[in-house]
Amino acid sequence: MIATPPRGRFITFEGIDGAGKSSQIAAVVALLQAAGIDVEQTREPGGTALGERLRELLLHESMHLETEAMLMFAARREHLAARIGPALERGRWVVCDRFSDATFAYQVGGRGLDRGKFDTLEAWVHPGLQPDLTLLFDLDPALAAARVASTGADPDRFEREQRDFFERVREAYLERARRAPQRICVIDAGRTPEMIRASIEGIVRERFFR
Ligand code: TYD
Repeated sequence: MIATPPRGRFITFEGIDGAGKSSQIAAVVALLQAAGIDVEQTREPGGTALGERLRELLLHESMHLETEAMLMFAARREHLAARIGPALERGRWVVCDRFSDATFAYQVGGRGLDRGKFDTLEAWVHPGLQPDLTLLFDLDPALAAARVASTGADPDRFEREQRDFFERVREAYLERARRAPQRICVIDAGRTPEMIRASIEGIVRERFFR
């Protein structure tokens, strides 16, 4: 009989635009790989060929807020079926830039999507599955907006939103963290990248390597 490998771990990164997740994701992936772990790095919306096409629409086409929420979950359904699920089953670890906490924060908190509808979609698309660990980058929206502006890149539909939108997104993220304190670790993203990296490394080591 062939022994089945233990299920891999699922780690997600969250936060408002400009909170500085990207470079820290690379650091966590490198840390895990150095420990001999087989890691798959991915992102949402996206992660599959179909998901990346949906991402293009989501980031650039205007649409009704419920259309937006359903497309986020449609991309996620595909991502789970084609990539995240099979990877975890094979024992690979998955590090994902955003997941359903982002839909709660942006579509429910930012846009005002009905919470019951969010709950229904979440229960439909991933019943019983949540990340093993979520690192939530928390930052003052004024500082985050300055970081986004300093990249000089053309802002997408979300990045063009006003400060009050990001205040609501931030609050919704923090509310979600209060409801799942074991899973969601709030990271003070106002510190230097070195300090953030050290604190994340401590969290990952304590959570998985002890
Ligand atoms: P992100 O990958 O952080 O963009 P970038 O490439 O600029 O770093 O996220 C894309 C955008 O999608 C971001 O503004 C948040 C938004 N988003 C939602 O509104 N809901 C969701 O469920 C997800 C996954 C992302």
